[in-house]
Amino acid sequence: MFFHMPVQLYFGSGEIKNLASIVKKDLKAERPVLVTDKGIVQSGLLKKIKNQLPDIQIYDGIEANPKSDTINKIAEQMRKISPDLVIGLGGGSPLDAGKALALLGTNNGNIQDYEGREKYKNDPLPFLAIPTTCGTGSEVTWVSVITDVNRKFKMSIKGPKMYPAVSIVDPDLIKTLPPSIIASTGLDALTHAVEAYLSKPATLITDNNAVKAVKLILGAIEGGFNDIKNNHKDRENLMYGSTIAGLAFGNSDVTAVHCISESIGALYDIPHGVANSIFLPHVLSYNLPGCTQKMAALARDTGINEDDDTKAAEVFIQKITDLSSRLGIPLFKELNIGKEVFGEIARMSFENNSTPSNPRVMAKEDYVKVLENAYG
Ligand SMILES: [Fe+2]
Repeated sequence: MFFHMPVQLYFGSGEIKNLASIVKKDLKAERPVLVTDKGIVQSGLLKKIKNQLPDIQIYDGIEANPKSDTINKIAEQMRKISPDLVIGLGGGSPLDAGKALALLGTNNGNIQDYEGREKYKNDPLPFLAIPTTCGTGSEVTWVSVITDVNRKFKMSIKGPKMYPAVSIVDPDLIKTLPPSIIASTGLDALTHAVEAYLSKPATLITDNNAVKAVKLILGAIEGGFNDIKNNHKDRENLMYGSTIAGLAFGNSDVTAVHCISESIGALYDIPHGVANSIFLPHVLSYNLPGCTQKMAALARDTGINEDDDTKAAEVFIQKITDLSSRLGIPLFKELNIGKEVFGEIARMSFENNSTPSNPRVMAKEDYVKVLENAYG
């Protein structure tokens, strides 16, 4: 068994106040750059950074499902000022973009040249992650997911030197998130935890983190959805759950839910958390015969009292379906994706590196069946 997590992690309400000291004293950085998106600029969160680091160079053009063209263009501009630290502020997209840019800060060429594991020649620049949603987990993982616009494919760029050097996880940063983002990112984190627990490479340590994350997220997501601003405990538990779900899947893996959502995200720009929420119950139903006991154990850990394993797992799956519906997650058929592309989505999902981690063997045809079931 192997568990690796070299990130220096600061967790707690108000931790963002220590940013300048972390940048200057811990990381000894003099020319940091910041990567974010327009939503963060509009939300006012950027002010918390600029108050402390007034001269920081800001790149705020990161889109959802960050694109290779965007990354390559920013890298070209960024290299001219030779930064010594990249800071990512935002949800999964700015954080993954920040990791990719840290790599391109010390390595020539385009981000497509570094797809896969440890393809970089030089150590990337140090990266500081500041998540502002309760879903990504990117603050404690070594992977950056970038969409190659030419192939319409989500590439994974990863390696042991791509972990953030430092992450600041401050639950107060999600205080102003709209309910729909609390729902989609919280359910993304729940998917990370459930998939990490059921994945083939799961270990005792990843299981511990995954089960705790599932309990925390299930206990906090509706309170956060209804009133995140005045609900300190739910904010904290959602962020804690999201981060430890990252510890879990970062050291085990995700499974077929993410294989489908990454394929759909590359083809249609559907928000990652929404896609995961839609497919989680359907993949769990497919996987049930392949991991009945473990799924039942997870169900019982969340308070489901059923003696029969299959029944307990089925009640758990129904619980997730009902939760998604209460949180306003759309149905698959509402996304305007026609059945004629199911074959292509299934092929891309099957070829995803995480398919072998799924607890039940999953062929291309099985992916088509899951898509059809989800479509209703
Ligand atoms: Fe995810």
